Amino acid sequence: MNRTDIIILGIESSCDDTSASVIRNGEVLSNVVAGQEIHRLYGGVVPELASRAHESNIVPVVETALRNANVAKSELSAIAFTKGPGLPGSLMVGVSFAKAMSMALQIPLVEVHHMQAHVLAHFAQVPNNPKPLPEFPFLCLTVSGGHTQLVWVTSPMKMEIVGETLDDAAGEAFDKIAKILGLPYPGGPELDKLAREGNPAFIRFPHPRIDKLDFSFSGLKTSVLYHLRDKEKEEPGYTQKNLKDICASVQHTITDILIDKLNLAVKKFKPRDIALAGGVSANSELRKKFGELAQKRGLHAHIPAFEFCTDNAAMIAIAGMFKFQEGIFSDLSAAADPRYQDSQFVTHKP
Ligand code: KG4
Ligand code: ZN
Repeated sequence: MNRTDIIILGIESSCDDTSASVIRNGEVLSNVVAGQEIHRLYGGVVPELASRAHESNIVPVVETALRNANVAKSELSAIAFTKGPGLPGSLMVGVSFAKAMSMALQIPLVEVHHMQAHVLAHFAQVPNNPKPLPEFPFLCLTVSGGHTQLVWVTSPMKMEIVGETLDDAAGEAFDKIAKILGLPYPGGPELDKLAREGNPAFIRFPHPRIDKLDFSFSGLKTSVLYHLRDKEKEEPGYTQKNLKDICASVQHTITDILIDKLNLAVKKFKPRDIALAGGVSANSELRKKFGELAQKRGLHAHIPAFEFCTDNAAMIAIAGMFKFQEGIFSDLSAAADPRYQDSQFVTHKP
């Protein structure tokens, strides 16, 4: 260890993944994620069960992250944690743990905005495998189970939400429609798998007419529901018989809605770099269309490795590092904030 090294322990517990990560000078030395299988039984995240699982996972997850990184607690420069947004009971486990550890080690505490961290995940570097980083200012499409945002990023600390969903998030739309189709939770990846073998032009679902750079996905869910209800009346077994084509048509619609708005934002902001973040960036069709858009408009496209797209603590540690470098710390009065709003991460719709 070098005396000038910045070594951050990141802790993430905003939803149903307990994660801890150690980074040194922006390089990810470890990124441990304990998912929670229990929610599969209920077809969605049960907040009470999530917080209990975080409570039992947090100690082994942090110990494993330190061990995998080969870093001793005494070498840590600071602890970064997710303050919000997220589920109250889940956030509280991570916040309390981070505060206790910072007090015991007498090191600074850094609070992080979960959605800002998804954007900054693009700056996570893996040792011996450097990748080009986005250049500021850039445009980021963040698509997860809880959020869909178009973010104009002018610096690591300063970003504006220029468009967002008015109802369901893109991942939520995938999951809810997958549930209607009888697929296991979380349905996004399952729907993606089936869609690869289906015909995307099988059903033409209408696109929502939403102003400016905002999104809406709840109408699509209703269209799918009504379509299946009517077709099943005419032809019982329609859904199962045409499952792959229905999945392909749904995926085609969701990804078109996302890429159309990204395209509109590109025309408006004229960035050189575009970035994709959040768990839905694993979607095969979205990645393909994102790449095609970048190529068509001569832009640099950035998609982080999948482990940094879904909820993870490496992105929290990276965001924490930027704040650490600016000397922005929290004290022990820090608290979880399920609706956290950061003054550097504001909504400004053009
Ligand atoms: O970012 P994330 O791990 O957690 C949240 O913060 O929500 O995103 C999870 C979401 C889920 O809705 C999941 O269904 C979706 O990402 N997802 C996908 C795919 N992989 C994950 N959606 C569509 N296609 C995929 N391949
Ligand atoms: Zn997330």
